[in-house]
Amino acid sequence: MNDTPRKILVTSALPYANGPIHIGHLVEYIQTDIWVRFQKMRGNQCIYCCADDAHGTPIMLRARLEGIEPEQLIARVAEEHQADFSAFRVGFDNYHSTHSEENKVCATTIYEHNRDSGHIARREITQAYDPVEKMFLPDRFIKGTCPKCGAEDQYGDNCEVCGASYSPAELINPVSAVSGAKPEERKSDHYFFKLADFEEILQSWTKGGHLQAEVSNKLDEWFETGLQEWDISRDAPYFGFEIPDHPGKYFYVWLDAPIGYMASFRNLCDKTEDLDFDAFWKPDADTELYHFIGKDIIYFHALFWPAMLHGAGFRTPSAIFAHGFLTVDGKKMSKSRGTFIKASTYLDHLNPEYLRYYFAAKLSSGVDDIDLNLKDFAQRVNSDLVGKVVNIASRCAGFIKKRFDGRLADSLSEQALFDEFITTGHAIAEHYEKREFGHAVRAIMGLADKANQYIDEKQPWVIAKEEGKDQELHDICSMGINLFRVLIGYLSPILPGTAEKSEAFLQVEPLTWARLATPLTGHQITKFKPLMTRVDEKQIDAMLEHSKEDLKEEGAKQTPEPAQAAGPLAENPIADTIEFDDFAKLDLRIAKIVEANPVEGADKLLQLTLDIGGETRNVFAGIKSAYRPEDLQGRLTVMVANLAPRKMRFGLSEGMVLAAGPGGKDLFILNPDEGAQPGMKVK
Ligand code: 2FM
Ligand code: ZN
Repeated sequence: MNDTPRKILVTSALPYANGPIHIGHLVEYIQTDIWVRFQKMRGNQCIYCCADDAHGTPIMLRARLEGIEPEQLIARVAEEHQADFSAFRVGFDNYHSTHSEENKVCATTIYEHNRDSGHIARREITQAYDPVEKMFLPDRFIKGTCPKCGAEDQYGDNCEVCGASYSPAELINPVSAVSGAKPEERKSDHYFFKLADFEEILQSWTKGGHLQAEVSNKLDEWFETGLQEWDISRDAPYFGFEIPDHPGKYFYVWLDAPIGYMASFRNLCDKTEDLDFDAFWKPDADTELYHFIGKDIIYFHALFWPAMLHGAGFRTPSAIFAHGFLTVDGKKMSKSRGTFIKASTYLDHLNPEYLRYYFAAKLSSGVDDIDLNLKDFAQRVNSDLVGKVVNIASRCAGFIKKRFDGRLADSLSEQALFDEFITTGHAIAEHYEKREFGHAVRAIMGLADKANQYIDEKQPWVIAKEEGKDQELHDICSMGINLFRVLIGYLSPILPGTAEKSEAFLQVEPLTWARLATPLTGHQITKFKPLMTRVDEKQIDAMLEHSKEDLKEEGAKQTPEPAQAAGPLAENPIADTIEFDDFAKLDLRIAKIVEANPVEGADKLLQLTLDIGGETRNVFAGIKSAYRPEDLQGRLTVMVANLAPRKMRFGLSEGMVLAAGPGGKDLFILNPDEGAQPGMKVK
């Protein structure tokens, strides 16, 4: 073990602030958290920082859709994210936001240094523009027919049917995914980061042992293609930071996202004595900096990020650790199969420690995808954790409590066995250090088998019935408890909750690697309470059903915008095809608008009181752009009458009003009465 503790700063990718954490995200946070907890257990100073990635067009549009300000959306999502992380025991030392003063300062500094050194270029570009929403459209907000294979409804950057990449201008019959309008081409000045200026340093950095071999090979391909200038600006309207010397232009979300790592750390330094920002970010820092990321965002982290840092006079990362994506039962996570599981949905059914263990058992240092096989998940948790590890304590604790007043024997009866456990710890530590968690788990379970074998051979339950064998019983059970303690110590980066409960049972300080080598002798422990229960497959089924319900709710909210990144975090903005049976569930009714009022604090919403034939409903409808409240009174509209009520910031919305049109001023409800009566079913 080290004499001088290492000083390490670790980050995980920042989750977007417009959607919930799901089990795909958790692979990374759990992986990082295990590594950080291991470093802390080894006595190193290891600081884990993260933040919400709060900027960009999707967040701006999501807030608009909900009729709230982006700041309100990101505040709400920040709370939800942190509640999920804390339930999964992802132990950040700091969690911040990219929409923060610290990030503005860091982003400005990095931009200005690069600009002053000549690494920023200005160029006019032509881009698709939505004339209704009055905004430039990111490629993924344009849909149309693929120019290569003719498939309809494809994104502006690539075709999901034939895999072709193209520019939005090549799409046939393009429409804006925001308003449905036909995009126009418009020109605008943009600012570019001259990545090619850094070719030499990047060539040497990417080959300098900072990347996994497969990542480094991928980068070779990118170098061969040539390093392109990177567009770091976006036009208003945009939710982000205005570029200091260019009013109306904003930093692209991906410019200030990685800077959010630095800003979160800065925020922590400002709250913590003796934490020196420069010690972690100056060019010749003797501290370590690691970023855990998904393999879809390597380009940003292994090229743009080190280049931006270098250009601004900061240190570059010690390493980037990329991981693969999560599949469930061998397939991409799917909303209709119920395998697109939100963290909060998982938590309603299963213990987070199970998932931490299963992911650990599957994780390696490579970028291969990992599969959550739900049957295997239940079997592994039940046989390894409940059947092997927890069982050791439950087999011995009762005798210690009942027969020896909860006191462990004064010496170890099988020093050699204990020593073997401690020696194996060196290899386990090495596996953790290298992020070979699957190997670590296997080695730990090998020891758990040995501990169980020992107890099986010694048969304390037989000895307990024999006269004059108290000492032997005491020795065996004390030995069993000591072996259990070492095992829990080794598992504690993976199972912090179980480790905490075990520490309470053993009445010991939090387990560190160094402390494990000293056995517990002549020590008082307390009553054993079951540390973990078996997974029941019914819980898994219930979770999948619940996830399918989540999908229905999500569908009701209808997000028109796609996520920013392709890969595990991307979701399709256009709802999947539905079956006729789903459609038939809609109860569509003619409703009379008896009252319409503006909603304070909401730009788009009107509050409507609707009469659906003797019953009144309160509905918030996003039609303010098309109607003055006073013009709506007495008009008829169609509403979805059986939509589950939805709590909004302004009150409960009890249904949804249907209007047709591209949006803005063109949103049409029914023409004045042509025989329709409130409450009539719409066929
Ligand atoms: O891909 C994503 O989900 C991004 N929000 C990750 C950002 S990581 C870092 F650069 F901030
Ligand atoms: Zn195609």
